[in-house]
Amino acid sequence: MAWCILGAAVLMLSLGVDGEGGGAGGGEGGGAGGGSYVAAVYEHHLIRNLQPKVPLSRQEALEHMNKNLDVYEEQAAAAAKQGAHIIVFPEDGIHGFNFSRESIAGYLETVPDPTAVQHRLSCMAKNNSLYLVANMPGREDCDAQTPPCPPDGRYQFNTNVVFSANGTLVARYRKRNLYFESQFDTPADPQLITFDTPFAGRFGLFTCFDILFYNPAVELVEKLGVRQLIFPTAWMNTLPLLDAVQFHRSFSYATNTTLLSANLRVDAEAMTGSGIFSPGRHYITVRGRASQKLAGCW
Ligand SMILES: *[C@@H]1O[C@H](CO)[C@@H](O)[C@H](O)[C@H]1NC(C)=O
Ligand SMILES: *[C@@H]1O[C@H](CO)[C@@H](O)[C@H](O)[C@H]1NC(C)=O
Ligand SMILES: *[C@@H]1O[C@H](CO)[C@@H](O)[C@H](O)[C@H]1NC(C)=O
Ligand SMILES: *[C@@H]1O[C@H](CO)[C@@H](O)[C@H](O)[C@H]1NC(C)=O
Repeated sequence: MAWCILGAAVLMLSLGVDGEGGGAGGGEGGGAGGGSYVAAVYEHHLIRNLQPKVPLSRQEALEHMNKNLDVYEEQAAAAAKQGAHIIVFPEDGIHGFNFSRESIAGYLETVPDPTAVQHRLSCMAKNNSLYLVANMPGREDCDAQTPPCPPDGRYQFNTNVVFSANGTLVARYRKRNLYFESQFDTPADPQLITFDTPFAGRFGLFTCFDILFYNPAVELVEKLGVRQLIFPTAWMNTLPLLDAVQFHRSFSYATNTTLLSANLRVDAEAMTGSGIFSPGRHYITVRGRASQKLAGCW
């Protein structure tokens, strides 16, 4: 189902590519059958909720998320203007991080649900005729009396959503390997999630900390033969061996896959470094300082 009703065909395409502290990068990736396509990853300068432990009403949470989505809307249009077939936004880029299970409640949406955040993302994809990948906080209601349903009667998932060029939701991936994310649940039924595109065939999806585990990252490659991977991340650069560009490029090289990696840009947490990595050809979009932070990623 396409959720976006395209009204007047006027797009705001005049914005530049580089946002403050962030940047969108494009590169041609090797597609299935030796073709090529244009991909964009956007290193989003997160507009943070500075009191993430304080619960917000749904309305307040939406107001916060809409500020980040306003930037996404500009960048999706800018990417389309440069011929992008697909754009990838980072993990936590719409809502942020450091929430508790209770304080993120106002941010949650059932996926699929053609309203609010998902409606805006769907419209961005359709308006700009490109595939769009974003990360958002998802929920799934369950019966609190029936274990393993949590006592508050809902699962909360760190969720990637993919919209096709006509605004249809074509994939949903729930992060399996959580990194100190007490606000989220681990999905009971781990899945290998892929979607097919007309411009480059099949893509697989995983998120941030997942890249350090066999399932689903390596499984997508070894079991399903996926050659192109999409990787929203909120990656804190950690020397010596867990620097974003270094590690993500190495993953691409070791698995012989193209990796579209979109990181957040949050200097205070040493989050930076995104890229389009393909064996033999690399397009590193933003590269900032690395630091000695202890943690790795969400
Ligand atoms: C937020 O999370 C990051 C990463 O885990 C951590 O470095 C930071 O101290 C946290 N901030 C607060 C206020 O909890
Ligand atoms: C899509 O295009 C319509 C018509 O130009 C515009 O009103 C709307 O704001 C756009 N929405 C998005 C999400 O790009
Ligand atoms: C929209 O795109 C999806 C996925 O590419 C496709 O299955 C569907 O038929 C399309 N719908 C319309 C109305 O074009
Ligand atoms: C990597 O994949 C390409 C394209 O399928 C293939 O031609 C090449 O032999 C592979 N390289 C390695 C080292 O497996």
